[in-house]
Amino acid sequence: MLKVEQLHKSFTLAGRAKTVLHDITFAVANGEFLCILGPSGCGKTTLLRCIGGFESYDSGDITLEGRPVAEPDTDRMMIFQGFDQLFPWKTVAANLEYPLKIKGVASNVRRQATERFLHLVGLSGYHDYFPHQLSGGMKQRAAIARALMLEPRILLMDEPFGNLDAQTRNSLQKELLKIWAQLHTTVIFVTHDIEEAIILSDRILMMLPGGGIRDIIPNRLERPRRPGAAGFAELWDSLYTQLGDGPARED
Ligand SMILES: Nc1ncnc2c1ncn2[C@@H]1O[C@H](COP(=O)(O)OP(=O)(O)OP(=O)(O)O)[C@@H](O)[C@H]1O
Ligand SMILES: [Mg+2]
Repeated sequence: MLKVEQLHKSFTLAGRAKTVLHDITFAVANGEFLCILGPSGCGKTTLLRCIGGFESYDSGDITLEGRPVAEPDTDRMMIFQGFDQLFPWKTVAANLEYPLKIKGVASNVRRQATERFLHLVGLSGYHDYFPHQLSGGMKQRAAIARALMLEPRILLMDEPFGNLDAQTRNSLQKELLKIWAQLHTTVIFVTHDIEEAIILSDRILMMLPGGGIRDIIPNRLERPRRPGAAGFAELWDSLYTQLGDGPARED
């Protein structure tokens, strides 16, 4: 279980402290799919970076199985916002193998893992492509495969499908759910998109514009989810209303 307790974080800009995360407390069960939904600038990326160990915080605790999360580790892999996460000078296979290579894993084991995860994300046969030879969707697939190579307990995903067209996005959502079901990885997935949050999540953590938690909403709709299915529109409506009327907090 991942626990975030009373997390506070501020950035100092021009000598003035600005609170970005305010009293954030929640827990994520092992194997759970949590979506974080909130308006631009509310602190979603910052929260994910704190959980990933990339960002320090002012007070509070983040623990995984009771142990403090202090720095990046292979138990928490992050897929960042944007497309340029792969090393442009390395092939897809070399990108995937890289994290295992620096851990000293033998080359035959690396190759087997590469085969397995390329297949899992639908990129079998793309070993020798360079990132610039891939579409945006394929780059995201490769980035997901690379994150999975180290078999993390938690996948931290920051709007990974945000820049994709609707059709590619839908197919990647389906593939991610398949991977999640197969590997039992915990997923924390940031999105702006209410529909995406409903399709993917077990629960939805809704943030306030000022960096707090508005609500954590269980999503009990039957999987696989389709926008036309019973209950979908009602949940969408209630999330939309909550997203729309958050008070902006000034510090
Ligand atoms: N390194 C930094 N220094 C100063 N302020 C920062 C820094 N990183 C983020 N911020 C501020 O923290 C706030 C939250 O930023 P963050 O990137 O976490 O938002 P977000 O919810 O991910 O937004 P988006 O949906 O647009 O990606 C913003 O007001 C931003 O300006
Ligand atoms: Mg962000």
